[in-house]
Amino acid sequence: MSSTDDKTTTIYDVAKLAGVSPSTVTRALNNNVSVNEKSKEKVLQAAKELGYSKTNRTIKKDNVLKTIGLIVPDISNPFFPILIKGIEKVAKVHGYHIIVCDSENDLEIEKKHLQDFLDKDVSGIICTPVPGTNPFFSELIEDKFPLVILDRTIPVKGINFVTSDNREGLYQATKYLLDLGHKNILYIGGSRDAYPENDRFFGFKRAMDEVKNPIQNKLVIYCNYDWDKAYHEIRKFLSDKIPFTAVLATNDMMAYGVKKALEENNLRVPQDISIIGYDDIPFSSLIGLTTIAQPGYEMGRNAMILLIDLINGRMDKPQEIILNANIVIRESCKRR
Ligand code: RIB
Repeated sequence: MSSTDDKTTTIYDVAKLAGVSPSTVTRALNNNVSVNEKSKEKVLQAAKELGYSKTNRTIKKDNVLKTIGLIVPDISNPFFPILIKGIEKVAKVHGYHIIVCDSENDLEIEKKHLQDFLDKDVSGIICTPVPGTNPFFSELIEDKFPLVILDRTIPVKGINFVTSDNREGLYQATKYLLDLGHKNILYIGGSRDAYPENDRFFGFKRAMDEVKNPIQNKLVIYCNYDWDKAYHEIRKFLSDKIPFTAVLATNDMMAYGVKKALEENNLRVPQDISIIGYDDIPFSSLIGLTTIAQPGYEMGRNAMILLIDLINGRMDKPQEIILNANIVIRESCKRR
């Protein structure tokens, strides 16, 4: 992370002079208790020497607008507003405002939002990471910057995260279809690089192995959680006449795309093909989709509660909170 403009003093210049990280500068200027007095003194001294001031305003502790930076990978997916509602519910009680950004499933956009949040002196960050590896997270963890990873965990040591039990969720979904007598199950994953996918596929494989039903590679595809991609992929499957009797989609949006394609090809759900989704977003009950409910609202609430503890220096070791995911049986599956 480096200063972006050599004409004005930025937190990067203050950090360099004070010999601390940019996020330590942010927290010290926010009077964050997680910064020790010695570092805070160095930051204030450096800021004074450089005449650093974000907006030439005198920041008085009582009127600082306490903000949280929140990044989600696709704000148009109805799963994420449910998380946001849970976050906001807790943030409001503790006097925090939330800045919500959409990383559009793009790693560079996610990095830009993270850097902007540091520049904006947010008190903490909650992020559902895009697929792939973002080195920024390790830096923030190293700096002890208040950061909670929500929903999609990442393989970074020392992170605080809140997610749901993806392995158990997919195990329940797969077992349900197998118990209905389905063997040719088409698995539609989100993104191979999104970490919940590893756990979801683990649950799928565990249930299939239990009944010695081998996974057929031609019945495993990935559609990036996108309903339109799933719609087009299924149409290809149908024209290639690859046999399947059930579809297991690792989110409801892809299940909607599948349903649309099947019905356009005169295939009825569930009479001809069974479908099960994942998330249980609000529209799923309207169309009778059997799915796995993720406790999105509670995931958001837990993430914000954890972040406030981090901001106030009340957390001495990383927390991993995994909430239950449970099957919701409606009308989209039937016995084979
Ligand atoms: O629908 C979006 C998917 O990506 C959900 O399953 C959620 O877990 C997120 O990771």
